[in-house]
Amino acid sequence: MVRPNGPLICKGNTDITLLNADGELILKDKEFALCRCGLSRNKPFCDGTHKTIKGELTQSFTDKREEDITGLSGNLIITVKTNAMYSVTGPVTIFSRDGVSKTTRTKAALCRCGHSEKKPFCDAKHKQCGFVA
Ligand code: FES
Repeated sequence: MVRPNGPLICKGNTDITLLNADGELILKDKEFALCRCGLSRNKPFCDGTHKTIKGELTQSFTDKREEDITGLSGNLIITVKTNAMYSVTGPVTIFSRDGVSKTTRTKAALCRCGHSEKKPFCDAKHKQCGFVA
């Protein structure tokens, strides 16, 4: 769930696997919150720092790459790319907190630097803004 001006709330029916860019396990859990403002001091997790910025992390989005995941199952894997996005693999529903925006995917690149113009998706702005995490 994409929280307005807040983190990505990740919830699974089974454990979600969170890996670093080297494929090492960070966490396996059914629920956690990932930073998407780029400012957390506890990256990749949210530490509430987003409260210090004003109204820049929209929850609304459209998605031209929506996929039908009907009947698909399997674990969700999120890889935290070095100084870049969250790479998501597995059947996933991405939705805004207000429920207005919603898509389904088997793969997605989600912004964690806070600068994408296509939030919650990555548009490679992390390179221009020199995101370091
Ligand atoms: S991580 Fe923000 S644009 Fe890629």
